[in-house]
Amino acid sequence: MKPTALVAGNWKMNGLASSQAELEALANLLKEGGTADCDVLICPPFTLVAAFAAASAAGIAIGAQDCHTAKNGAHTGDISAEMLKDAGATYVIVGHSERRADHGESNDLVKAKAEAVHAEGLKAIVCVGETEAERDAGRTLDVVLGQVANSLPAAATPSNTIVAYEPVWAIGTGRTPTTDDVAEVHTAIREALNERFGAAGEGFAILYGGSVKPSNAHELMAAANVNGALVGGASLKATDFNGIIDAYRN
Ligand code: 13P
Repeated sequence: MKPTALVAGNWKMNGLASSQAELEALANLLKEGGTADCDVLICPPFTLVAAFAAASAAGIAIGAQDCHTAKNGAHTGDISAEMLKDAGATYVIVGHSERRADHGESNDLVKAKAEAVHAEGLKAIVCVGETEAERDAGRTLDVVLGQVANSLPAAATPSNTIVAYEPVWAIGTGRTPTTDDVAEVHTAIREALNERFGAAGEGFAILYGGSVKPSNAHELMAAANVNGALVGGASLKATDFNGIIDAYRN
C-alpha cells in the first residue's frame, strides 16, 4: 500500500482568534489551486482547535500539537486526546523536538501519548530527529532509528500513525539537509518500519520537516520515501503553505 501524502502545518505557539482569516484564505487558495494529491492539515494552538474545526472547509483537517497520556483527571493545565477529539481534532502531533527539549519528553512518554491518541481513534504524528551535535558525531541514523523504535507504539498502523523526520538543526533556521541526506534517513526509517511491521511498513507516511518553504518543497518532497511535509513558519501564511502544497499538484 502506498502512503497517502500529508502536508501538515504546525503553528506552534502562534495564532489568535483573528488568525481564522488565514484558515479561510487557505481554503480559498485550495479551491482555486485545484486538487492536490495529498491530505492537508493545520495544527493551531489548543485555544483555536475548536473554532478552526468548526470553521474548517472540507479538505483541511484540524489537529493539535500535543496531548496528555491520560483521558482525564487531576492534571492541571494539560489537555487530553479525548478533549481534542471532542473539539474536532483528527490528528495530534506528539514528541516534537521542542517538547522533547523544553519539557524533557522521553521516548516512553511520547509512545504513551501516541497510544492515548490511538485510543480516541485519532492519528498520531510522531516526531523524530537528531541535533546538530548528534549529526556532527555521525550518530544521525542511530538517534533517529532509536526514536522510531522506542516512540512508536506496537499497535501503530499506517492509518493511525505518521512519522515526521525533523532534524533539530533545520527547524526554524533556514538550513535543510541535502536531498540525498533526507533520502538516506527516510529510507532507513522505511526499512525499520518494514522490519518491524512487515508489509504494512510500506504504507506509513514519513514526513520531512525543518525549514520547508515553497522554494525548496518540490525538491525535498521528491526525495525517496518522503511522503509529505511538517511545516512550521511557512504554514502561518496561507500563500506560503499553499506554495508548499503545490509540490503535490500536477
Ligand atoms: P520550521 O518549518 O519553521 O522550520 O519548523 C518545522 C517544525 O518544527 C514543524 O513541526
